[in-house]
Amino acid sequence: MCGADFGVHVIMNAAEYNHPLATAPEEGAEMAKLIATVADGINFRSERYGHRGGLQQPDRLLYPEPPLDLPPDLDWSMGGKGATIPFVERAKRKGVTVPMWTACWIDPELGEKALREGRLDFVGMTRRLLADPELPNKVREGRLDDIRPCTGCMHCFDCRNKNKKLECRVNATLGREIVPEFQFRPAERKKKVMVVGAGPAGMEAARVAASRGHQVTVYDKEPRVGGLVLLAAVVRDTETQPLVDLVAYLRRQLDKEKVSVRLGKEVNAALVRAEKPDVLIIAAGPAHTKIELPGAEKPTFVKIEKLHRQLKRALTFFSPPTLVKLTKWWMPVADSVVVMGGNYQGCELAEFLVKRGRQVVIAHNGPEAELGDGMTNDDLANLWPWFKLKRVTVWPEVEYLEVKDNGLKIRVPDRRVYLLEGKNVMSVQDWGPNEALVKQLEGLAEEAYVIGSCREPGRIVDAIREGAQVGFAV
Ligand SMILES: Cc1cc2nc3c(=O)[nH]c(=O)nc-3n(C[C@H](O)[C@H](O)[C@H](O)COP(=O)(O)OP(=O)(O)OC[C@H]3O[C@@H](n4cnc5c(N)ncnc54)[C@H](O)[C@@H]3O)c2cc1C
Ligand SMILES: Cc1cc2nc3c(=O)[nH]c(=O)nc-3n(C[C@H](O)[C@H](O)[C@H](O)COP(=O)(O)O)c2cc1C
Ligand code: SF4
Repeated sequence: MCGADFGVHVIMNAAEYNHPLATAPEEGAEMAKLIATVADGINFRSERYGHRGGLQQPDRLLYPEPPLDLPPDLDWSMGGKGATIPFVERAKRKGVTVPMWTACWIDPELGEKALREGRLDFVGMTRRLLADPELPNKVREGRLDDIRPCTGCMHCFDCRNKNKKLECRVNATLGREIVPEFQFRPAERKKKVMVVGAGPAGMEAARVAASRGHQVTVYDKEPRVGGLVLLAAVVRDTETQPLVDLVAYLRRQLDKEKVSVRLGKEVNAALVRAEKPDVLIIAAGPAHTKIELPGAEKPTFVKIEKLHRQLKRALTFFSPPTLVKLTKWWMPVADSVVVMGGNYQGCELAEFLVKRGRQVVIAHNGPEAELGDGMTNDDLANLWPWFKLKRVTVWPEVEYLEVKDNGLKIRVPDRRVYLLEGKNVMSVQDWGPNEALVKQLEGLAEEAYVIGSCREPGRIVDAIREGAQVGFAV
């Protein structure tokens, strides 16, 4: 059908698991030899029968903890990165001579090494190219620091699984390449732009606005950039390093685009009046709200605000990866906890606590469908059985009645009242838009925007999208 000058590569399973008739690695290598007689190249992957199980993206199989039946033929030594390379090596040893490759969370460094060592003939990448389609050009130009890092979150894949438009957590232009609001065009007039908050929303807005030629200054009241992403990095154990890399990438880009970054500087109305910006972008993150619940004043009740304060203080001394380890050793949290809130934040907190030896119950005052809201279907399919294994009970559709010394009193839909026992009750629900700051700053610049969790508490994908959109708009 196609001419001899058109390369045809075949993607095939080198090995399959969880079925008596599944392809064994030796069979996969033999099949590759046959396919090599008609194909110009082969892309090897592996798969598990039953639930997709994460073998297409081996790194995700390790979430929330590696299962006991990790397929032994893959290389798990780098957290799933490069996991399927051994299949390619096996096929090459068996005599397959057409170019062979695989895609498994390979980064440029590992890809280059595998090419030089002859373990791969091509480097396969999907997610890293969605996060930064310019990756190959940046590698060629030696600009590794400019590569926008994929955080491996699988939001892109989840969009596809849910029949939604493709979107990337870190690359706002993915899927919006022809959407007018996301088109790059140089600024018509250079404006003085003041950004409040160096979380992902503020940094992305600053990066894009500066790249278009505006004069941008970012302020943050904390002594470091990153906002809540650094806290997310601590809680999201398996994503810690990629999230830290994302913050580092954004910081580097601000320097590159000559954005002035002023840390430890809280913005108030007086500062805005003194600075007289043409454009004010308020990306100050969420505000903590009051919880009106009997017993909420008890010392056993821990508001998210307190948890965040403690984590932020700890981040002054330790990096997120160090904190991940230290909190496994010590944390000011009792051995049994009731978590109020069952969306992604509640589930993540529960997972974090369980991994640190705490017994956890989740109570959610909303419908069952909201449980895990904000997480991918794949992660949830791994998380629910893990919760069962760890005896985490999950109570949706409850009414919170009272915080007691020994737990949380709830009412379930059939009106029965129970006590969920726990020496601490922790809420992840006491936050909302930062209306007070917006009110204080409104009207102080001719052009003003409120973005990210300051406008509506959301996820990193929302913060980056809104940051980019405003960066393109100013
Ligand atoms: C524990 C935890 C886990 C999370 N897990 C995930 C997850 O798994 N996936 C996900 O997508 N999201 C997660 N999130 C949410 C994610 O972190 C937020 O969606 C994101 O950080 C919001 O970005 P932002 O830039 O809008 O605000 P923020 O990240 O909150 O940044 C706002 C910045 O503004 C600064 N600021 C505030 N007021 C002022 C002022 N007056 N002057 C100067 N600076 C000011 C703050 O210091 C802060 O640095 C998690 C959050 C937490 C806390
Ligand atoms: C958003 C998305 C869509 C994908 N769609 C397909 C597909 O249609 N067919 C397929 O064989 N693999 C598909 N994959 C799997 C990838 O081709 C690849 O094998 C896998 O993501 C591992 O590579 P990576 O670690 O570089 O992402 C998809 C992956 C992603 C992230
Ligand atoms: S959505 Fe997440 S996994 Fe997919 S490319 Fe973007 S950062 Fe990577």
